[in-house]
Amino acid sequence: MAPFRHDPERAIDLDLVRCTENAALAAWKWFGKGDKNAADLAAADAMRGMFELIHCKGLVRIGEGRKDDAPGIFMDERLGTWSENAIPAAIAVDPIDGTTLTAKGLPGAISVLAATTCEDFDDDPRPLFPAITCHYMEKIAVGPRVAEHGKIDLDAPIEKNLEVLARILEKKIDDLVAVVLDRPRHEGIVRSLRQAGCRIRAISDGDVAAAIAPSLPNSGVDLYLGIGGSPEAVLSAAAIKCLGGQQLCRMWPKNDDERRRLVTVDGYTEADLKKIWTVEEMAQGDHLIFAATGISDSPMLRGIRVEGHYRVTESILMRARNRTIRRIETHHDVTRKTIRLASTGEEVRI
Ligand code: FBP
Repeated sequence: MAPFRHDPERAIDLDLVRCTENAALAAWKWFGKGDKNAADLAAADAMRGMFELIHCKGLVRIGEGRKDDAPGIFMDERLGTWSENAIPAAIAVDPIDGTTLTAKGLPGAISVLAATTCEDFDDDPRPLFPAITCHYMEKIAVGPRVAEHGKIDLDAPIEKNLEVLARILEKKIDDLVAVVLDRPRHEGIVRSLRQAGCRIRAISDGDVAAAIAPSLPNSGVDLYLGIGGSPEAVLSAAAIKCLGGQQLCRMWPKNDDERRRLVTVDGYTEADLKKIWTVEEMAQGDHLIFAATGISDSPMLRGIRVEGHYRVTESILMRARNRTIRRIETHHDVTRKTIRLASTGEEVRI
């Protein structure tokens, strides 16, 4: 009989912050240097290297690569020591959300992961993060007050959702702020938001932090809206669940070829393609942890700062079970601190 553990995720949660810290520090070396693949590779190498020291049996459910053939950590990869009695965990990672932001030295880049586990060691945690193989999803995300008291609807006209937000948040529509990825596909959304009088904060990349922003107190963001990556949707769902907000998503095949592949190769039905996912469905279970470290400033986290021979990172660690939110400022001494790289097994200076 497998041993029962209360809150097994607590045994690994701080180490998961070390993963995003190390990935962010590795990415920082490439910040503003114009090479997004080098940054992504370095961050993934550092994140995987830290995982090699963590006493878990991690199975990657959400990894990189599907959207843009980026280098990195992929679905079904094993992370952790996989030693006896190690904690089984389903893992979702994005060593950098905002590779272009990192390469261009812009705000909004974070390193992020989520992990979830079962109470019984013999259970398979993988289904707790559904693998959604569509590149993009339609998304709408709101904070806890709106999630508790109001009904947002992915299919409602935008002005109706804005009316709900304005009523619950006790603001005029003119004072509401929506974040939207700056993409031609969002022309209609932007037009409707503007016609209704809502303010838009257009971002060039990084919709994990953007979708979480309405759930954070004093972020200055009331709504996230638009079409972004599906892996990013699962990661933001994990955080939004810990914060008590809501995000509704639906697969958005970008063309007929992708729709056909989803049905004929990946086995989705037409009903699956129409399904609206809540945060509870995208990030299931109570033993859920979300960790992120800022690479550059975002509404959620400050970016890496250089203070003398220290690199200062800001991270956030959240748990779904009791909704504890920790903010962790870490001072890394560059004359002493090393990070482990999975590619070489070596400890290297940051
Ligand atoms: P990368 O860091 O992998 O480049 O992703 C950045 C991002 O902006 C995500 O935050 C977002 O979900 C997605 O790309 C949007 O995709 P696209 O750039 O194809 O519109």
